[in-house]
Amino acid sequence: MEKYQATAIAHPNIALIKYWGNRDHEMRIPENGSISFNLGSLYTKTTVIFNPSLEIDSLEINGIQTLNSGLKRISNFLKIVREWTSTPYYAQVISENNFPMGAGIASSAAAFASLSLASIKALGLFLTEKDLSRLARRGSGSACRSIPQGFVEWLPGRDDQESFSYSFASVNHWDLVDVIAIVAKNHKSVGSTAGHALANSSPLQRVRVADAPRRLGIGKNAILQRDFNELAEIVELDSNLMHSVMMTSNPSLFYWEPATISIMKAVPEWRQQGIPACYTLDAGPNVHIICQSEYANDVVNLVNQITGVLQVMVSPVGGGAYLVEE
Ligand code: PMV
Repeated sequence: MEKYQATAIAHPNIALIKYWGNRDHEMRIPENGSISFNLGSLYTKTTVIFNPSLEIDSLEINGIQTLNSGLKRISNFLKIVREWTSTPYYAQVISENNFPMGAGIASSAAAFASLSLASIKALGLFLTEKDLSRLARRGSGSACRSIPQGFVEWLPGRDDQESFSYSFASVNHWDLVDVIAIVAKNHKSVGSTAGHALANSSPLQRVRVADAPRRLGIGKNAILQRDFNELAEIVELDSNLMHSVMMTSNPSLFYWEPATISIMKAVPEWRQQGIPACYTLDAGPNVHIICQSEYANDVVNLVNQITGVLQVMVSPVGGGAYLVEE
């Protein structure tokens, strides 16, 4: 019996202006636009095999069969792929990451971006970059930003058709790197899907969302002009605003560890001392320190001296999702 198989690779991305909270949870239509860059040295490689003889979907991550919530999420997404493509078949999904699982690096963006591209190719179909990013968005909002290359903006839109990502500056536009300081390796207690649903319970979310277009405009312009100081101020403000919303949600989400705060206090001091770097945090305690590549070694040395830093990873800006020949 014929099987339909393809493999794709996608990188995770780090948001410089963050997405937090949905206007439509089911469709993952965000409350505000966001911008990010892909993390070129980290990737997820996903093979999908639609097989007429299967009766359920299956998921293997880094050689281990995954059941429960991980499989349920993939299976819910494959249901959307089946609807989009009028395919009746179940699929075997085999995924591997080159970054440590449980290191607190959001892997869902790379996972759903690579799964989207591999699924469409496996079924012999083609989608534009815009439509692929719309599809990836249904698995994990930020996954739509891992489809295009380089520096990416997610246009929030008001419905499914309007909510997609595109690249506004290429991989080589600016040699930024993300120095990722791992301060906790356990899986986060409240994941981002649940977190988005709590955002509106914070009285600060309305203010954060209302001001988001202004921050996005400043951040995007700073990237286009390669103005690091302008970028640094707005990136830290945006991250602090998102964490203020998290901390004031009901129930409150408090992701920081002591080392998180040590790094957040140190980075602006380094900036004052002449090392252009800024911090941003996702829904977890690990800190992403953004700097230009020429300062990466200095930043790695400095961050390694902070008590509680377990591991440091460095990634340059990366390309978009792509197919791998088998
Ligand atoms: O795509 P999700 O549901 O994993 O949400 C991502 C949320 C943040 O990482 C905190 C912010 C962002 O814009 O990536």
